[in-house]
Amino acid sequence: MNEALTAGDRAAGGSYRVEPNGNTASWRAELDQLWHRGRAFLGTDLAILGGAMTWVSERTLVAAISNAGGFGVIASGSMSPAQLAAEIIATAERTQRPFGVNLITMHPQLTELIDVCLEHRVSHVVLAGGLPNGAAIGRLRDGGAQVVCFAPALVIARKLTRLGANAIVIEGSEAGGHIGPVSTAVLAQEVLPHLPDVPVFVAGGVGRGEAMLSYLEMGAAGVQLGTRFVCAFESIAHAAFKRAFIRAAARDAVPSAQLDARFPVIPVRALANPATERFRDVQREVIDRFNRGELSQKDAQLEIEHFWAGALRRAVIDGDVEGGSLMAGQSVGMVTREQGTADILAELVDQALRVIAARQHRFATPRVATSGAVIDDAEIPGPAG
Ligand SMILES: Cc1cc2nc3c(=O)[nH]c(=O)nc-3n(C[C@H](O)[C@H](O)[C@H](O)COP(=O)(O)O)c2cc1C
Repeated sequence: MNEALTAGDRAAGGSYRVEPNGNTASWRAELDQLWHRGRAFLGTDLAILGGAMTWVSERTLVAAISNAGGFGVIASGSMSPAQLAAEIIATAERTQRPFGVNLITMHPQLTELIDVCLEHRVSHVVLAGGLPNGAAIGRLRDGGAQVVCFAPALVIARKLTRLGANAIVIEGSEAGGHIGPVSTAVLAQEVLPHLPDVPVFVAGGVGRGEAMLSYLEMGAAGVQLGTRFVCAFESIAHAAFKRAFIRAAARDAVPSAQLDARFPVIPVRALANPATERFRDVQREVIDRFNRGELSQKDAQLEIEHFWAGALRRAVIDGDVEGGSLMAGQSVGMVTREQGTADILAELVDQALRVIAARQHRFATPRVATSGAVIDDAEIPGPAG
């Protein structure tokens, strides 16, 4: 637990539970039916992935997510092969349940990191940060791992499945961290009806169980959440980082700005802070120097890219919320207090069950029209096929 948070930030109340009664099992059975493919693929009770977050998703949080029935994923973005090996061992000491590893495809030691995962029999490897090649996917599959890839569009999802991806994550622009241009709601409609061959997990902006359920009903195998887990008790993020999340509203989580098309900036969604402003100033100044012929295009691009180097660590670990990067998704507005990981997961499930319960109730109770006639529920059509 993080001592520097106030008692209010840590208030335990608020999470609600569906009152157990004779129907609870049937509500849960309906949910389990909806996400059975995701549960079977992950080997978990809940088809909820804890999205890997560099510096945040380490042994404690990953094991807590898996122990609570979800699927924790180690973020290896900042790790050497030896560090990853140590993290996998330490996580396995904390949970008997399945967990995965997220590898950044641009990592200079990708092959060695893959070998570490295979050596330690990591069941699922998520390839992120750029399109993986067939060799990386093949190496993992040949070594016995299930391979999960991010797809920012249907055509890429299809290509990745042809290359051997066992499952796909579609992540919309509401998400925290590196983002694509398309919203989760649109990506889900574009991909879910047309990718029946592999399980698809939906990420980006999922903050409550009702939204989770709606994506499952559209055909998702499960969901992936990152932002909601940052303020878990088990998250090692600095108290100042957590406090920034607890205070933020959805609109505070904004994509990084690019000032000049000649100098591309990879869009990253983060809470606006003084560093966000300074990044604009630095781009302006570097572009001016380039225009005056004082810098080559390559050096100018490097200076811009260098601005955020080490910034996520400074914020997450050192608590520098003014000069670091506060990567966060728009669902940050739904992070209202520090909370146990198991509680977060239970809340998501409860919210989904409440929708199912309300629906079952609606369809089971005879309804009376204004004329006084009883409406036969059997006449109400089900969801479109
Ligand atoms: C602080 C932070 C760091 C992240 N780091 C990574 C990362 O290292 N690798 C990755 O694939 N995704 C990363 N993500 C994205 C998450 O894994 C996840 O997909 C995303 O948070 C889901 O959307 P949400 O933020 O709306 O819950 C990061 C997200 C956050 C908020």
